[in-house]
Amino acid sequence: MPFLTQLSRVKSYYIRHGLWPTLVRGYRGVFSGTMMLYYCDIAAFRQAPVLPSGHSVERKRNEAEISSLDLQRYAELWNPVIAKANMRERFGRSASLWLLQSEGTLVGYGWTLGGGTIEPHFFRLGRRDVHLFDFYVAPAYRGRGLNPLLVNSVLCHLALEGCARAFIETPQWNHSQISSLKRTPFHFLGSATKWTLAGRATVWWGPAPQASYATSDESSKLDESSESLESS
Ligand SMILES: CC(C)(COP(=O)(O)OP(=O)(O)OC[C@H]1O[C@@H](n2cnc3c(N)ncnc32)[C@H](O)[C@@H]1OP(=O)(O)O)[C@@H](O)C(=O)NCCC(=O)NCCS
Repeated sequence: MPFLTQLSRVKSYYIRHGLWPTLVRGYRGVFSGTMMLYYCDIAAFRQAPVLPSGHSVERKRNEAEISSLDLQRYAELWNPVIAKANMRERFGRSASLWLLQSEGTLVGYGWTLGGGTIEPHFFRLGRRDVHLFDFYVAPAYRGRGLNPLLVNSVLCHLALEGCARAFIETPQWNHSQISSLKRTPFHFLGSATKWTLAGRATVWWGPAPQASYATSDESSKLDESSESLESS
């Protein structure tokens, strides 16, 4: 990310949140903290996603495809300055933005990038791999299963395009996202920590997932949701 954009991010965050949260966030920008990494084999999915009535998922490949109303709402959902700068950078790298609409209102979004990641990652992605990142649901709509709906829908679309494997990660402290991912076909891959300096990541892997994890109830639930996704 260009230095001036980074500076603007820091300034904007400082104005909104104050010094201490800015320092914490800056630290997290360099040091990821422990991240929970997940993967999902999507090559076998063959069905288009079925969404509840009143809901739709739209894919956007550039800013011009987004209505001015959605653009405004997207920016306001988080931080207008950062949102716009991020959007430019991500579309410039051929990422896709997926908008979740509920009764005509933009209530959530998520980004995907095929074959790589925007930030230096924990490992190299393959050509047919896809990275899911920056998923967000508006506070008033949380806890209704909208994030899994969006994630599952995105996975189905990507599978139909021939993507093989999807990856997503979340900080260990983000219990909402960890809980939410249990309602998707993602499987826990492992935990890791990384330092990013001058565009290079140094990664420390945590212990490999326990064998018992694969046979836990949670994993069975994942398998069930994966099957229902495939048969939906
Ligand atoms: C993480 C996030 C996308 C989940 O979206 P969601 O549509 O609420 O997901 P779900 O409906 O599956 O709920 C997941 C968990 O959120 C928590 N949750 C429920 N209601 C909530 C609310 N009103 N506010 C915050 N969290 C809530 C619960 O822990 C829930 O899990 P549980 O039902 O097993 O207890 C959303 O909380 C969010 O946008 N957070 C901020 C951005 C973020 O952290 N994104 C992830 C980037 S890695």
